[in-house]
Amino acid sequence: MSALATEHNAVNLGQGFPDFPMSDELTRLVNQAMKNNFNQYSPMPGWMPLRESISEKAAFLYQVKINPDTEITITPGGTYALYSTLTTILHSGDEVIVFEPAYDSYVPNIEINGAKAITVNLVYPDYHIDWVAVKNAITAKTKAIIINSPHNPTGSVISEKDIQELRKVVEGTNIFIISDEVYEHLIFDNLPHQSILRYPDLLERSFVCFSFGKTYNCTGWKIGYCVAPPALTKEFRKVHQFNCFSCHTPSQVALATFLKNKDAYLSLSLMMQEKRDYFKQLMEQTRFTMLESHGSYFICAKYNRISDEGDKDFAIRLTKEAGVATIPVSVFYQGGKDDKVLRFCFCKKKETLEAAVEKLIRY
Ligand SMILES: Cc1ncc(COP(=O)(O)O)c(C=O)c1O
Repeated sequence: MSALATEHNAVNLGQGFPDFPMSDELTRLVNQAMKNNFNQYSPMPGWMPLRESISEKAAFLYQVKINPDTEITITPGGTYALYSTLTTILHSGDEVIVFEPAYDSYVPNIEINGAKAITVNLVYPDYHIDWVAVKNAITAKTKAIIINSPHNPTGSVISEKDIQELRKVVEGTNIFIISDEVYEHLIFDNLPHQSILRYPDLLERSFVCFSFGKTYNCTGWKIGYCVAPPALTKEFRKVHQFNCFSCHTPSQVALATFLKNKDAYLSLSLMMQEKRDYFKQLMEQTRFTMLESHGSYFICAKYNRISDEGDKDFAIRLTKEAGVATIPVSVFYQGGKDDKVLRFCFCKKKETLEAAVEKLIRY
């Protein structure tokens, strides 16, 4: 859709990236790290001061003690952390429960490891988890369950009740939990982020994946981390050792300092919530019907008052004719389930959102 957006000079509300600048201070810190000669390989598990800052942040946010030496590994982004996790635990024939619509890397990453994705649909239109369906999907081959909150593409978030249900599902099994928490700091309406880090009994069997790209508006930096208990981290690092091995050092040095600034990550939710609200308010002038979004960069919308086309056809036509690119939600389902919903990305400058809505009003 981004290529189509460029071709048709459309406003791109498709791909999830901010079009406003990242923090000057973080930019300054990475420049300084480079000038100070932090330009060589860092240790395989990551720059220790950064792992210590992550551990301090986790203690502050989630009241958990995480050992920076044995439980945190810095990775080149969240996607890599997820891929390495799946490669660490999967064998041929294993099954992994995946909720759909799903971030696009999960299923290919499962399949490349010879395993099978067992998909469970989130319940439209609020995209909550159907725990009965999850229980029915579990078999003796179930190796892991992937959760993602706040959720891409729908903006749904899990509650404490979901955590209780998750606990019931995995109790007495060897099922791993893979928790994709890249949108940890993009949660709205005063809802608490239900990080797996809050729950020691679940953390015991979990790989929890994060991304600095999402937290600091620098998706192109591709730097993140994985938190897992020592025995699991040891295995994870065997995969990491012979893949990326060492992540970009100057960014790690900069982030080690910047992470101590609590305001920088605590203020993100409100800033992004204001963008969600502004976009929702602008969209009231169009014939789209907005669904709920409680987190992430994304909000979905129905277009039944405009067209009854399938979502892919409609999204393509909207890009070409109206000049606004979005993502059709059916692409996040293996089977292409089409609820006739488009995903809009609202982490954009006010002017960008206004320019897009101006075009949509006329459509
Ligand atoms: C749910 C989800 N997980 C992981 C990622 C990837 O994060 P990173 O860019 O750090 O690899 C994304 C990015 O869009 C995402 O939406």
